[in-house]
Amino acid sequence: MQPLIGFRDFLPASCAERNYIFAKWREIAGRYGFVEFDGPVLEELDLYKKKSGDEIVRQLYEFVDKGERAVALRPEMTPTLARIVAAEHRQFRKPLKWFSIPQVFRYERPQRGRLREHFQLNCDIVGEESPEADAELIALAIDVVRAFGFTAQDFVVRVSDREFWTELLKLEKVPPDRWEEMLQTIDKSEREPREKTEERLGKLAKPVFEIFEKGGESAKLNNIIENLRLRGLADFAKVDVRIVRGLAYYTGIVFEVFDRAGKFRAIAGGGRYDQLVAQLSDNAVSLPALGFAIGDVVLGEMIRAHTTARAQMEKTVAAERAVEIYVVTAKEEQHGNAIATMQRLRDRGYRVDYSLAGAKVARQFRLAEQNGARLAVVFGDEWPQVGVKDLETGQQRSVAHEELFAHLATFPTLSSRA
Ligand code: HAM
Repeated sequence: MQPLIGFRDFLPASCAERNYIFAKWREIAGRYGFVEFDGPVLEELDLYKKKSGDEIVRQLYEFVDKGERAVALRPEMTPTLARIVAAEHRQFRKPLKWFSIPQVFRYERPQRGRLREHFQLNCDIVGEESPEADAELIALAIDVVRAFGFTAQDFVVRVSDREFWTELLKLEKVPPDRWEEMLQTIDKSEREPREKTEERLGKLAKPVFEIFEKGGESAKLNNIIENLRLRGLADFAKVDVRIVRGLAYYTGIVFEVFDRAGKFRAIAGGGRYDQLVAQLSDNAVSLPALGFAIGDVVLGEMIRAHTTARAQMEKTVAAERAVEIYVVTAKEEQHGNAIATMQRLRDRGYRVDYSLAGAKVARQFRLAEQNGARLAVVFGDEWPQVGVKDLETGQQRSVAHEELFAHLATFPTLSSRA
């Protein structure tokens, strides 16, 4: 039997890659002073129906549970965060800077870059309205992608402001109940034939395409780009009004991250959602907020397609998967000494393995190499001496067994934390 379409098994090699991605995510979020939180995978259906917008509601994995509650697997993290913050914010100094790495579920048509489950790094700032926060968040998004070995030649953040579009909707007297549909059409316009967009926009088509051609500028956007310039990150971002974002709750600055060559789907996206916390809270807690999410699927595809990023990942993954020391028992009677020593090695923090089936010596050495071990420690006729073989250089020397730890300490790359 196969996993469901759009779902993945993570065999050890892909699990190691996933861990590599998560470790970098955590490291960079930490560099910016973000702290980790999580919430439930299953939420009340209403949480998403209220404010995420039609597109994501259509993609929900929803069902009625045994207690007759209408529930849904989380398709994104932002509503959960807003719900938690609305209820708990008094406990925390503002602004909150929180991150999480949820697995999320969307019933989409599986294709390259889009599955029915994926993991996302979400980084959000709650309780700060200054545009400094927008710049800080975009800088974080850039650094998260850079951490994998990508440069300004590889990707760009396209930054926009939804207010361009909401101003236009107001000016053209579009009734508010049609805003979401219009914004979605503008958001999708890059991926649709022009005629289709024109037809959907009606009389709005002309001004919309004019704005596309003219581009847009605003003091707010210029400030953000200037702030990024001061950080040396201006080459990674550009103003681009065509970015609108598909989710309904965004209110101001929005952005998406793309590969420069345009080969992949969006890597990451986010923006300001200053009303969502108030909309989800019973006692009308009003807190400005902004955030973004980067998914593991497109990022993984990009890493594998990029020589440097891929080499960096493979090197880290190989080092983390390898055992360090392989214990070889060359004489049956030495089995007891071998496992007693092995336990002490593991207690000291070394990664140690041995053959459970007690194979021939040559095969034990082969296993040592296949497991990526740096050293083999051999228990045989020489006891109370043991052989220490450096599997990189092939050199072997005999060491009194009580000297073994001192000898291992001369290999500074091994991981003992003793
Ligand atoms: P989103 O744009 O829907 O934003 O998703 C963020 C990223 O998740 C996308 O850029 C994409 O890389 C990845 N992604 C989305 N759907 C799929 C899929 N079906 N398969 C694989 N990857 C996917 C949000 O989710 C917002 N809640 C982000 C946010 C946080 N806004 C404020 N705070």
